[in-house]
Amino acid sequence: MTRTLKKRPFYGSQSQEIAAYEAPHRAAARKAAGEGIVLLKNEKQTLPLAKGSRIALYGPGATHMIKGGTGSGDVNEREVVNIYQGLLNAGYTVTSRDWIDAYDRIYTDARIAWRDGILERAKEEEFFIAYSTSPFFVPDGPDVEKTDADIAIYVLSRVAGEGADRFNEKGDFYLTDQEAKNIRDICRLYEKVILVINTGGLVDLSFADQYENIGAILYLVQPGMEGGNALADVISGQAVPSGKMTDTWADKYEDYPNAMTFSHMNGNVDQEKYEEGIYVGYRYFDSFQVPVRYSFGFGLSYTDFQIETVKVTAGSEVAAEVKVTNTGKLYSGKEVVQVYVSAPVGKLEKESRRLCGFAKTGLLAPGESEILTIRFPVYRMASYDESSAEWLLERGTYGVWIGNSLADSRMEAMLVLEEEKILSRVKNICPLREELNLLSIPEEKRIARYEADLESGRGNGAAEIPLDLSGVETEVIDYEAAYEPEYDEVAQIVNGLDTEQLIRLATGEPAKGQGSNLGSAGVSVPGSAGETSTAAFEQGVANIVLADGPAGLRLMQTYGVKDGVIRMPSFEASFEHGFFSQGFQAEGTPYYQYCTAIPVGTMLAKTWNEKLIEETGVMIGEEMEHFGVTLWLAPGMNIHRNPLCGRNFEYYSEDPLVSGKMAAAMTKGVQSVPGCGTTIKHFACNNQEDNRMGSDSILSERALREIYLKGFEIAIRESRPMSIMTSYNLINGIHAANCRDTCTAAARQEWGFDGVIMTDWTTTEHGEDCTASGCMRAGNDLVMPGQFSDHDNMRKELEQGTLKEEDLRRCITRLVRVVLRSGLYETTE
Ligand code: BGC
Repeated sequence: MTRTLKKRPFYGSQSQEIAAYEAPHRAAARKAAGEGIVLLKNEKQTLPLAKGSRIALYGPGATHMIKGGTGSGDVNEREVVNIYQGLLNAGYTVTSRDWIDAYDRIYTDARIAWRDGILERAKEEEFFIAYSTSPFFVPDGPDVEKTDADIAIYVLSRVAGEGADRFNEKGDFYLTDQEAKNIRDICRLYEKVILVINTGGLVDLSFADQYENIGAILYLVQPGMEGGNALADVISGQAVPSGKMTDTWADKYEDYPNAMTFSHMNGNVDQEKYEEGIYVGYRYFDSFQVPVRYSFGFGLSYTDFQIETVKVTAGSEVAAEVKVTNTGKLYSGKEVVQVYVSAPVGKLEKESRRLCGFAKTGLLAPGESEILTIRFPVYRMASYDESSAEWLLERGTYGVWIGNSLADSRMEAMLVLEEEKILSRVKNICPLREELNLLSIPEEKRIARYEADLESGRGNGAAEIPLDLSGVETEVIDYEAAYEPEYDEVAQIVNGLDTEQLIRLATGEPAKGQGSNLGSAGVSVPGSAGETSTAAFEQGVANIVLADGPAGLRLMQTYGVKDGVIRMPSFEASFEHGFFSQGFQAEGTPYYQYCTAIPVGTMLAKTWNEKLIEETGVMIGEEMEHFGVTLWLAPGMNIHRNPLCGRNFEYYSEDPLVSGKMAAAMTKGVQSVPGCGTTIKHFACNNQEDNRMGSDSILSERALREIYLKGFEIAIRESRPMSIMTSYNLINGIHAANCRDTCTAAARQEWGFDGVIMTDWTTTEHGEDCTASGCMRAGNDLVMPGQFSDHDNMRKELEQGTLKEEDLRRCITRLVRVVLRSGLYETTE
């Protein structure tokens, strides 16, 4: 086979005309948003709303809907369909234009003041830091007056993003006084009110209990560029809601187990002690029996479903056959069936129930049924024993709970395991260096709960099924068998490279005028986050382009080409001249790159629809191919450990199975387009944004493996993503980027990861305890975007013998293997 490098064009279009891919991609984004909206409340038949109704629309999100979060996860789409527009498109009349116009003026002033504040700060500090740590707070609206409408809608919006955590204060987790007043007035003036929550993360909703006339609550999340249309689809009944929560919505913030210690809450952003251990999200609320507002997995529909368990079988995998029938009369709809497992009380303390499988039906017409078979390996039910470094199933009875939310599931089968089964033998990783005072439930309480649960199972007529695992082999990991690349051809290329080439390939590509940072922005594709080095171009190793996600592809909307060279404004200039290149006049011939802004990660997950996520991935892959991007810096899959994490919107869930499954589906979609790959991030325990480069996540190995690594493990095993991005934080005192235990032992040796691992951007810039050589030793192959000092560091350590050339060569071999999989080559047999 011969491989030749294709000539790289200037990507994008010279015309602003709508390109062929845009309409179908927008339609897909609209569908995904429609399916990710969660109907939290619907009383007195408030929804759907008859076509032609007159609506009084209020709230910051009416015309300034938040389509996604800020920072690297932002996307520069052609336009956003806001809620006002979406309602008009659907044929509704909006009666509150005066309020909306008045709010628009307030909003524009606030935006300008925010921009100027950042530019002012940027005189003293780095622009990106000033930008990313200055969240924009949505301003309050004016007072509300009565209009001639059948119903009022209030849209509550919050922006959050990279670099800063949220606050449990008014204006963020809580309503501002003016918002509270507006809602009070709306409920006084209008008989029927719909509350729409347009936030990436959770907010306090207790205010809604005070007003009986808030008949419906829709969680719109942050829905991407088609959000207004998607919301109108749901309001009109054109799309019947089928989204379900992927987090637990507590009654109040203080109910979350780490509420008072999370991030800035205890004044210590250097050390984050994960003392709740495995009790994260619903695992905590369920096990400690703390009442919640909306259970994990909860979401209403306009129709009703009956869920009947047909059969449960168990062997090396558990299979639950479930019949779902649409018992309503008016609407077709989709339902999500969730299977939870409760484990017996034994030597390891376990959460009461754990999600082990789920599936979504197709669109069922009234009266129609579908049989879903939900299968999962018994490994999903296993717990990690730190004392023996084993994944095991203790002997006893495992309850299989089936339903359409955690709260509404019933024990339908009891799997009886006579003898303890060790499923996998690994080695201990990431040792704790500090004492942790782990949250725990006294054994007698756990036994009482377990017995009550079994009693409920018996009451339901749950069948006892023997779980015979005698035929299942125990997997034993051989850590000595170091991972070696499989392609001789690649090894040959890399063997022919000299040490300087290896060093340069280990970091991003230098671009003129970018100061000490090498490839802090891609040069071949404007707006991309970076690209790899051309150091071995002559040997046929291309520089591949890496661009952000996860809410679409983040590229610059406009750039210019003059004298055959790409001209693009700096991030700062494009910010100043029109908030990220909208309206920016490029030098030379203008080129346009319009990407589709899809719903944020947490909203995609709320669809619980792996097929739909995979289709969304295909669409992203097509745009990557179109714009010359090889690696998408997404999906983000950190766990929602606390609702105040500034980047929760990018991540899927508080549950690792949901995170892993969604990331796998997304990866399958993206990687079905030849030459395109995902980058699952941020590996691992990046659960807070304040002091994100320096905070140390201190946690037990059990919590690390069962909660924080689990999603990555699932995604890697099920979808073979092309790359992983390590996180900025430390894990038990070691920078994630320099952590051999997670990068090599867990990802490669245990789970068989065969792609490239890269750092998050500028990871090695912050202190001497995280170095480029440390990355190479850990098996972290690529320092992004890289600095000249990283090269110096590797040269020095190679000379001193603290970095072995074979380690560096191994990293570069993995990188080159991914480069050769890119779409930049033409191959002939
Ligand atoms: C973010 C990453 C992102 C990278 C490149 C970093 O600041 O943490 O998620 O992919 O920048 O833009």
